[in-house]
Amino acid sequence: TVEHSTERPHLVLFPFPAQGHINPLMEFAKRLVPYNLHVTFVVTQSIRERMLEAQKDAAPATSPLTDIRIETISDGLSPDNGEAKDVKMVIGLLREVGGRAFERLIEKLNSQNQRVSCIVYGSLLEWVPHIANKLSIPCAFFWTQSCAVYSIYYHYHNGLGHTAGDEAEKETPISELPLLCQSDLPSFLHPSDVNQFGKQLVLGQFTTISLATWILGNSYDELETSEIKSMVPFIPIRTVGPLLPSAFLDGSNPQDRDVGAHLCKTTNCMDWLNTKEDSTVVYVSFGSIVVLSKDQISEIALGLKASGQSFLWVIRPDHKKEETSGIQDLPEGFLEKTAGRGLVVPWCPQMAVLSHPSVGMFMTHCGWNSTLESLSSGVPVVSVPQWSDQTTNSKYIEDVWKTGIRLNKCREDRLIVREEVEKSIRTVMESEFGGELRKNAMQWKTLAKKAVVKGGSSDKNIEDFAKEVIARNS
Ligand code: UDX
Repeated sequence: TVEHSTERPHLVLFPFPAQGHINPLMEFAKRLVPYNLHVTFVVTQSIRERMLEAQKDAAPATSPLTDIRIETISDGLSPDNGEAKDVKMVIGLLREVGGRAFERLIEKLNSQNQRVSCIVYGSLLEWVPHIANKLSIPCAFFWTQSCAVYSIYYHYHNGLGHTAGDEAEKETPISELPLLCQSDLPSFLHPSDVNQFGKQLVLGQFTTISLATWILGNSYDELETSEIKSMVPFIPIRTVGPLLPSAFLDGSNPQDRDVGAHLCKTTNCMDWLNTKEDSTVVYVSFGSIVVLSKDQISEIALGLKASGQSFLWVIRPDHKKEETSGIQDLPEGFLEKTAGRGLVVPWCPQMAVLSHPSVGMFMTHCGWNSTLESLSSGVPVVSVPQWSDQTTNSKYIEDVWKTGIRLNKCREDRLIVREEVEKSIRTVMESEFGGELRKNAMQWKTLAKKAVVKGGSSDKNIEDFAKEVIARNS
């Protein structure tokens, strides 16, 4: 446990309980520690259990958490409904039970001479500002997606972004953003999307934003200059990213460096990558949530096989099924026929993989973390967006940052077909155009580093934020 004293400002960080939201906020926490602040990271019980499980695999001396105290609150999931996967129910319980537990935790910290100076909350937890307000603690809204998506949702929430009619290619004009077709918007805004709950959830983030003192985003100024500008007349956002382990960017955190080295040494897929030539491996992964159907897995497999390239493919088991689910969905004999050329794993240290010289491209669902990780490691992309912000990230990858191509672009149903898989891999890995995409990606990598090194745009924003919290506390 980390001992906290009263003199130093105390920041409490509370992410939305999902991998893609916890990772960047934890990296933010690590970047705040050098400012002589106390940092407490709040997670739900089920997330804590997963973190402890993951730590078992890490060498104790290299734990990245030695300066950050972890507090756990109930998420309202009892052992009986712990596997409840109805998102609406999980989010409702988190708000009701988790909300009360979070408030009690803050009151406990306040009464134990660990007065909380600021609460940084994952923006999907839109109820946190009410608690902060009630306890007279300033709070910071933490945005885990791109500034483009922040701007789009804000415009829609305020009735500024609607296009009339339902013609699929109608364009949305938002000042400073490229013209966006409906298929480029986050999926929750597509007229064909029946998931009204998703739309309510994402737009709901803006209902309490005016209670927040700071708006922070996991992006960097150089990457989204216009998108950041688009919000200046409304609710400006300050970028503090890319929030990735420093081992892969500026190397500023020695503990991170050790973790990176440790991961690179111990994981079997890293050994396997070491046996491959530079830029010869296709890395395939769809993040921590998306589960592909058997048909889609089969189409990717056959496309990969036909491409003739080596590949490292993360197929996560479906948590609702047995451990080997996903792998079982591969076409018969696929693993045997591609042995040596391909490796299929249930999980990998993604940033270490993307930073490995033998990785030549990334086939990704374009989650925002994966997108930032591809840009920060200079790896070109074949994008296969599935839902949420991924469609918008894919539009930017292809048309704005020019680091990749979209696979299922012309398909309203966003389905994957083997011929397109093969063709897109060949384009990125073998063509002159693929070389240009790689060059562009390398430029974004350089700019990502520039943003986080001492004095860089994101580093400065983090410093300003820390100083403002300190000033308010004194
Ligand atoms: C979700 C949404 O899908 C995404 O669009 C949103 O921006 C954040 O929340 P997720 O689908 O999990 O996230 O994708 P992504 O944002 O890419 O985050 C996945 C994280 O898990 C990345 O940091 C990635 O490096 C990590 N990961 C994934 C691994 O470390 N190993 C793996 O094998 C797969």
